[in-house]
Amino acid sequence: MKAIRNVTDLNIRGRKVFLRLDLNVPISGEGTNRKIDDDTRILEALPTVRYCLEQGAKVILCSHLGRPDGKRNPKYSLEPVALRLAELLERDVLLSEDCVGEGVHQMIHHSKEHQVILLENIRFYPEEEANDAAFSRALSHLADVYVTDAFGTAHRKHASTHGLPSVMPEVGCGFLIEKELKFLNRLIESPAHPYILVAGGSKVTDKLKAVENLLNFVDRVVIGGAMAYAFLSAMKIPIGKSKCEAEGVAGAEMILKKALAHKVEVILPVDHKVVFPAKDPEFAAPIIVDQIPDEAIALDVGPKTIAKFEAALADARTIFWNGPMGFFEKPAYSEGTLRVARAISEAKAVKVAGGGDTISAINGFELNARFDLLSTGGGASLKYLEGRGMPGIEVLGK
Ligand code: 3PG
Repeated sequence: MKAIRNVTDLNIRGRKVFLRLDLNVPISGEGTNRKIDDDTRILEALPTVRYCLEQGAKVILCSHLGRPDGKRNPKYSLEPVALRLAELLERDVLLSEDCVGEGVHQMIHHSKEHQVILLENIRFYPEEEANDAAFSRALSHLADVYVTDAFGTAHRKHASTHGLPSVMPEVGCGFLIEKELKFLNRLIESPAHPYILVAGGSKVTDKLKAVENLLNFVDRVVIGGAMAYAFLSAMKIPIGKSKCEAEGVAGAEMILKKALAHKVEVILPVDHKVVFPAKDPEFAAPIIVDQIPDEAIALDVGPKTIAKFEAALADARTIFWNGPMGFFEKPAYSEGTLRVARAISEAKAVKVAGGGDTISAINGFELNARFDLLSTGGGASLKYLEGRGMPGIEVLGK
């Protein structure tokens, strides 16, 4: 693979730049009340956007938002993102309803120097996820140069992340991808030990493969959140009605075997904060238990578990964290995630965290400055650490 060029190596002055970003930010509310809950990904994308504008390039921004399954759906419109970008850039951000076709060509042609174009959610087109060649070619006619800073989506082989750069004459990456790779490479190439993986959150099956691969590097794995229930279930420990995917249990079983063979310690919850949804649908009266009763759901780890997790993190020299320890969005269930975030932030270690929820939690606890890298890629950072190919990055070295 050829060396990947940075945007600063490309001649973009006065040229049209297609800039693929990952502006897939958490949004709550409906209709005109949709609001961005965490704008980290937008903020992290700004240096490259600003650089392109300073170079006098005409900038065409592209991103996905959520998973609209190839259909137009106002719930997934990038409109709130366009508004936030306009505020931050202090420029007009024109949201183009279409990503391809005459309308967007006209908009680009007539746009003025103080304007930036943002294409509407690229996943409104089924051709995006299908990495459709004709769609990629149609996108390529919008610009002269392709730059990606969409680290969070670089593990996806889609039209805007792979098909398009494959056919563009000049391609490169932005400052965010450069920063992400610099820190993530430190976790693979020369991690200081003890190296601890902290895993949690709810996308359990998505993450198990990465956890399995990371067993080759780490000394200890701390597991909380919904992921823990797959492991407890695999160990035949009752989990009541707690969230747990069946495929996750099989994966967890395999990881436990591999961890044993690799002499990697797996640290799991020993007590839990539970609720009884039938009696307490508002989740208003949690109790702490060592064993989860049949009718209960666990929503956070308990105090004994927190103490174990803190002890496991105290001597760490490298920490990678992906996934909260519980339902941290509700203050009553945020203790586990908060205490783990604090323990990590106090460790004398290289500290990297990834995943939208994890970053939101860290930002909410105002601990962001204590981390070396808050990766904008959840699935992407895990994939990278797995040592698997990242199509959206590999294609840049074509
Ligand atoms: C993410 O949030 O992890 C990225 O934006 C990728 O989204 P996806 O998992 O829907 O492809």
